[in-house]
Amino acid sequence: MDTLVDGELALRPMRADDFATMARWLSDPRVLTWFGGRDRPMSLLDVTAKYQPRLAADSATTCLIAELDGVPVGYVQFYRWRDHATDASVLGLSTLDNPYGLDVFVGRPELWGTGLGSRMVRLLLGHLFGTVGARRVALAAMAHNYRAQRAYAKVGFRRVRLVPGAEVHEGVARDEWLMVADRGSYSRAEVGTA
Ligand SMILES: CC(C)(COP(=O)(O)OP(=O)(O)OC[C@H]1O[C@@H](n2cnc3c(N)ncnc32)[C@H](O)[C@@H]1OP(=O)(O)O)[C@@H](O)C(=O)NCCC(=O)NCCS
Repeated sequence: MDTLVDGELALRPMRADDFATMARWLSDPRVLTWFGGRDRPMSLLDVTAKYQPRLAADSATTCLIAELDGVPVGYVQFYRWRDHATDASVLGLSTLDNPYGLDVFVGRPELWGTGLGSRMVRLLLGHLFGTVGARRVALAAMAHNYRAQRAYAKVGFRRVRLVPGAEVHEGVARDEWLMVADRGSYSRAEVGTA
């Protein structure tokens, strides 16, 4: 896919030479606290084993690196929701919705809370709703990850279902909110921030 651009922010396809940056982010305890878990830091070898297959053209997951003025700052991936473990019907999603899922993190914690994460998600939603033809996009956020939920709500996601103990994170079964955005709410959110 082409690089997505919003001013100085770009989302571009991940490359093998991003793996070292990914390993730096995914071994930072501050990032791992919310994405992956501090008990599962990733080495360059781990990152290569996990993400190299996702660079293939036929990969079910598309991986993007976020850059601010050409400097890598974060990661976002998307996939058809039917490839996700959670049954689409649980969320009331039908194949007619052509539902997609996404996961995101900003790799530099000093940038958290600056609006970057919600801009990244908004830019990707524009692609999924506009180009890919998704009618709904879903994601999961740990129930105590208030910052992430707020960032998602700002771009049109709403909490649909609380799944108890959905994710084992740092050895604890954590409740997760499943959140959904649809084309309509995305458009309204865009109007709201104009
Ligand atoms: C989640 C993440 C991508 C969001 O990106 P971000 O740049 O921090 O998000 P934004 O600045 O756009 O929005 C965050 C919002 O949460 C608010 N917030 C921050 N801490 C909060 C808290 N403890 N409780 C409630 N809201 C909080 C911020 O004030 C901001 O809202 P506002 O713009 O209305 O003031 C980023 O914080 C991140 O990478 N976190 C670590 C990894 C992670 O949690 N990934 C998501 C897994 S589901």
